[in-house]
Amino acid sequence: MSVRSSSLLRVLTLLGMLLAFLVPATSAEASGPLRTHAAGRGKFIGTALATGPLSNETQYRTIAGQEFNQVTAENAMKWESTEPSQGQFTFSGADAIVDFATQNNQQVHGHTLVWHSQTPGWVQGLNATAMRSAMQNHISQVVGRYASNPAVVSWDVVNEVFDDNGNMRTSFWYNTLGSSYIADAFRAARAADSNARLCINDYNVEGINAKSTAMYNLVSSLRQQGVPVDCVGFQGHLAIQYGFPGQVQQNLQRFADLGVQVRITELDVRMQMPRDATKDTTQATYYRNVVNACLAVTACAGITIWGFTDRYSWVGDTFPGEGAALIYNESYQQKPSYTAVHDALAGGTSTDTTPPTTPGTPSARNVTANSAGLTWSASTDSGGSGLAGYNVYREQGATDPLLGQSSTNSITLTGLSAATQYQVYVRARDGAGNLSGNSPVATFTTTTGGGPGPGGCTATGTVQTQWSNGYVVQPVTVTNTGTSAKSGWTVTVTLPAGHTVTGSWNAALSVSGQTVTARNMGYNGNLAPNAGTTFGFQVSRPNGDTQTPSGYTCA
Ligand code: XIL
Repeated sequence: MSVRSSSLLRVLTLLGMLLAFLVPATSAEASGPLRTHAAGRGKFIGTALATGPLSNETQYRTIAGQEFNQVTAENAMKWESTEPSQGQFTFSGADAIVDFATQNNQQVHGHTLVWHSQTPGWVQGLNATAMRSAMQNHISQVVGRYASNPAVVSWDVVNEVFDDNGNMRTSFWYNTLGSSYIADAFRAARAADSNARLCINDYNVEGINAKSTAMYNLVSSLRQQGVPVDCVGFQGHLAIQYGFPGQVQQNLQRFADLGVQVRITELDVRMQMPRDATKDTTQATYYRNVVNACLAVTACAGITIWGFTDRYSWVGDTFPGEGAALIYNESYQQKPSYTAVHDALAGGTSTDTTPPTTPGTPSARNVTANSAGLTWSASTDSGGSGLAGYNVYREQGATDPLLGQSSTNSITLTGLSAATQYQVYVRARDGAGNLSGNSPVATFTTTTGGGPGPGGCTATGTVQTQWSNGYVVQPVTVTNTGTSAKSGWTVTVTLPAGHTVTGSWNAALSVSGQTVTARNMGYNGNLAPNAGTTFGFQVSRPNGDTQTPSGYTCA
């Protein structure tokens, strides 16, 4: 490049830096909170709220208010909280949630009126007549309290009425009242609030399976009977080790086609601890897939995440050894799953422009004629999209070919050429496609893979000059004796005891014990059949020792 064009380039680069400084990398829209993007798509994005941190943690309140436009009480509206003894209603926790939502312009989903869990013992011991009237009274009081409150728009009327196989759960409700309690509960809720959207809610019904089909049949039959079921909630308690449910969008759509609203009500994606970057990436994908499924179904009202910070999640208490299921970590840092939800709601645009850290020097092991294992120290990613994996390149001059990709900090390269030197380096990539810097280069040479043949070569060394305590080997002539071109070579020679290499040229030397391994440089690795190249090295030896090495091998 001429002096003139290089100074022009410098000016342009400076201008570019100035522009990058003046113009934000992402628009305010693209980096806005989740609720802005959700609202832009006509959906809600919500969180479950716990009353403890809501009352005493500023950071919790701030994020809950800024990021979400919908909330669900994690526990405060459950029967044990609202009517712990018969006829004694306590709404302090429920009111705290509704007040917070009102202040923050959020809609509230009431959770939950009739459930087999977190329901006081006094309910469970009632006879059929008493239980039915206790249920109707509970619904009437709880729904009635918020019926005219504009923030409270929907209720989980019944929760988890199915067992894991899609049969009616043999709960105390079912055992005492039969399945009639379900229709009765919906009718009571409608009587208490003629406007609220009334939902049936369950888990493991996200994809198409036996249980979701049982739910589908129940909702269909209830509606045919005129029971006011106008919404189906899919909890969405997922775990990366169990795989992503099949056909979520199609499942939501088939319910929508029954005429009901659908919603994701309790999304979280747990993992076996400890958390790591690979699991985070998988988790982010699950979150993204759920959000995209809801976005793709017009009747899907939105997504509620079951909390937002790993600091407060039911997962650790409920699933031993599992955790990290939410979109912020324990110290309120956004995780890759946050970015996934954000970007899905924002329409797929990424706001992450921070590359991962540069990986460590790869080290080779189990090198064969056509494969080699590499490991390196892992990168980290702080840009939000999360570490997605690594690219392994061959150092080859102008364009370095990609040899392989891995989601972990190791790889087995296959399809390599025999008896060939490889200089490789690794770059980490994140979920937004940002690439890290290049790791330091590692060099290995594949084995000959069985006798002379296409990869074969020879090496002979000549002592050019020597003195009492040293000598120069020049040239070592390397010849491709095979029938195909070589793109690298390795020569080994064993030095007599006490001899040490003091310099070399036209090859990269490494020494292990007395074995000297000389590998081609970038410029003299390619040898057509019958072509040759040379290199040289200098050795010092004990004074008076007259030995020089022999027995050069080439691969
Ligand atoms: C969980 C809460 O998160 C916990 O704090 C509580 O101890 C138990 O219940 N399905 C539901 C939710 O419908 O109400 C549950 O919430 C999680 C599973």
